[in-house]
Amino acid sequence: MKIDLLQMVEYGGCSAKISPKQLEEILKYLPLPKDPNILVDIDTHDDAGVYRVNDDLALVLTTDFFPPVCSDPYEFGQIAAANSISDVYAMGGDPVLALNIMMFPVAKLPMEAYAEILKGGFDKATEAGVRIIGGHTIDDFPPKYGLAVVGYIHPEKIVTNAGVRPGDSLILTKPLGMGIILAGQRLGMSSVRDVNEAKCLMKLLNKSGAEVMKKYNIKGATDITGFGLAGHALKMARASKVSMVINMKRVPYIGDSYTLTDEGCIPGASFRNLEYAEKDIEFASNLDYNLKMIAFDAQTSGGLLFSAPTEKVNKILEDLNSVGLPDSRVIGYSTSSQEKSIYLNN
Ligand code: CO
Ligand code: CO
Repeated sequence: MKIDLLQMVEYGGCSAKISPKQLEEILKYLPLPKDPNILVDIDTHDDAGVYRVNDDLALVLTTDFFPPVCSDPYEFGQIAAANSISDVYAMGGDPVLALNIMMFPVAKLPMEAYAEILKGGFDKATEAGVRIIGGHTIDDFPPKYGLAVVGYIHPEKIVTNAGVRPGDSLILTKPLGMGIILAGQRLGMSSVRDVNEAKCLMKLLNKSGAEVMKKYNIKGATDITGFGLAGHALKMARASKVSMVINMKRVPYIGDSYTLTDEGCIPGASFRNLEYAEKDIEFASNLDYNLKMIAFDAQTSGGLLFSAPTEKVNKILEDLNSVGLPDSRVIGYSTSSQEKSIYLNN
């Protein structure tokens, strides 16, 4: 029997996150624990929590899991693991340990698929230098998989979404369009080439990008996942108390993402992301509609977005190119805080 995980889900990957608006409404009623060793908590909507163990060591903690983004169980495992580990890289940390989180419909799928998902996760974790030392499985439909990850970081070297300074350039390390290409695949509209590129990008660890960030002492970063480029940039701008100008014509996207958007292939998550963020974004009056929707496209295991001193940008792009991130681009810049957090231009 050929296993096709995609047939089991309406939307997979980070598109399955609940809307950022609903999340924010609930989280504001949740008390924040008070402890001087908590260096980063959910207050600034960062990628992961950070806890100081001693003066030289802090732990980075994060978890992500989601329904399938592809048909093949092994590839799904790889993508889910790369995505879960990504938040540690976005904080400048070194991922070390992980636990599997699995929801699997025992009556609906052969156990072989279960083994393949775990194998994909194991292989990707191993590539990242992460040891998976346990996990937990629930019998549930549709399947979902991910990791809870622990990383190490020096308490003074934490990269946060609050570290962007006015005047910095903004660099994005992977093209957008994963949500569009996956939605198009469901409708039979995406080319095999684009689907393969999307899968390669989702499997690609943000490890090499994070190494370049560390080399240049970058202070402000996040990874682009379910809330889309505009949603994550907004969280970053607010946390850093700056505004950002993003030039959508400079933002790279996968193959036919633009044409697919033009043909109406816009996943529901894009509209949820737009609804959450639009009140704090100024859209240029001549902004191309398709580029606008690409800015809100939910990414799964997307690239890093980080801020860098403008004079170092050429060197950084050269380095990103040489570590296998040839689509890295400067997509805009930050300014002192203006009326809106994000200015989305052509
Ligand atoms: Co993140
Ligand atoms: Co995350």
